Amino acid sequence: VTPIILDCDPGHDDAISLILAMSSSALKPLAVTTSAGNQTPDKTLNNALRILTLLERHDIPVAAGAPKPLARELIIADNVHGESGLDGPKLPDPAFAPLTISAIELMAQKVRESDEAVTLVPSGPLTNIALFLATYPELHSKIERIVLMGGAAEAGNWTPAAEFNIFVDPEAADMVFKSGIPITMCGLDITHQAQIMDEDIERIRAIHNPVAKCVAELLDFFMIYHRDPKWGFEGAPLHDPCTIAWLLKPELFTSYDCWVGVETKGEYTQGMTVVDRYQLTNNPHNTQVLCKLDRQGFVDLIVECLNAYN
Ligand code: BDR
Ligand code: CA
Repeated sequence: VTPIILDCDPGHDDAISLILAMSSSALKPLAVTTSAGNQTPDKTLNNALRILTLLERHDIPVAAGAPKPLARELIIADNVHGESGLDGPKLPDPAFAPLTISAIELMAQKVRESDEAVTLVPSGPLTNIALFLATYPELHSKIERIVLMGGAAEAGNWTPAAEFNIFVDPEAADMVFKSGIPITMCGLDITHQAQIMDEDIERIRAIHNPVAKCVAELLDFFMIYHRDPKWGFEGAPLHDPCTIAWLLKPELFTSYDCWVGVETKGEYTQGMTVVDRYQLTNNPHNTQVLCKLDRQGFVDLIVECLNAYN
């Protein structure tokens, strides 16, 4: 059983990621912390609480993270995720409150208490993870790995060069990639293969439990933004759930190891992940970059996880 801490900015795909993570006995979620990203920090916190309320997981401690990026103003993705950050389904109001300690204090407490090294799973901007690593260097040895959604070896989705999570807080991402902790990067290279199609959504809706119904309705809304022909997608890319899918079934993925750096200053390239695919530098490998996905296996895994809520 892998102990994990989910740091997220729900967000439709973050919400689905939480739902998958809570469905499996192979993972032990120790805490959920929230970052500012897809929506403002008050809304992402509220959304995490609403999803955990739907799942009746009041036992999971939740804490709010930094209200904005380390050195920049917050950019939100309300064009993708709507006014609430989770537009679409009708969700319950939060039935429990977050802790009054900060995200990084909660992370520190859980990592310290854990017998085993903990895997961090960020699916939003990396602000909280960077602050946590900088504040508690003595806990680095108790972090197994960081499995993150962010970046791209290919083109960006927020600027031509940058993926949203890294673009929002490049200084934080830079600190994380330089931390020396092993990273598994679920970038756009893999998440754009993790497309969920209309027929997959109907398969999910047919599961007939309240959690699967919520996921289908989240996906109905998430589809809208991704139908724009400029993307060339057939479905909607389920970015954040790739992290959980990799933890549950790494055999669905192909990867390579290399050095990845983060561009913080470029004129056109701020927030770009510079992926040394062909080993052109002598920089030591810091990242496992996921590059190929068995899409059907990914969808089957989602269905299997949602059936666990029957
Ligand atoms: C990432 O940005 C957010 O909109 C999604 O939740 C995902 O984490 C994709 O670029
Ligand atoms: Ca996210």
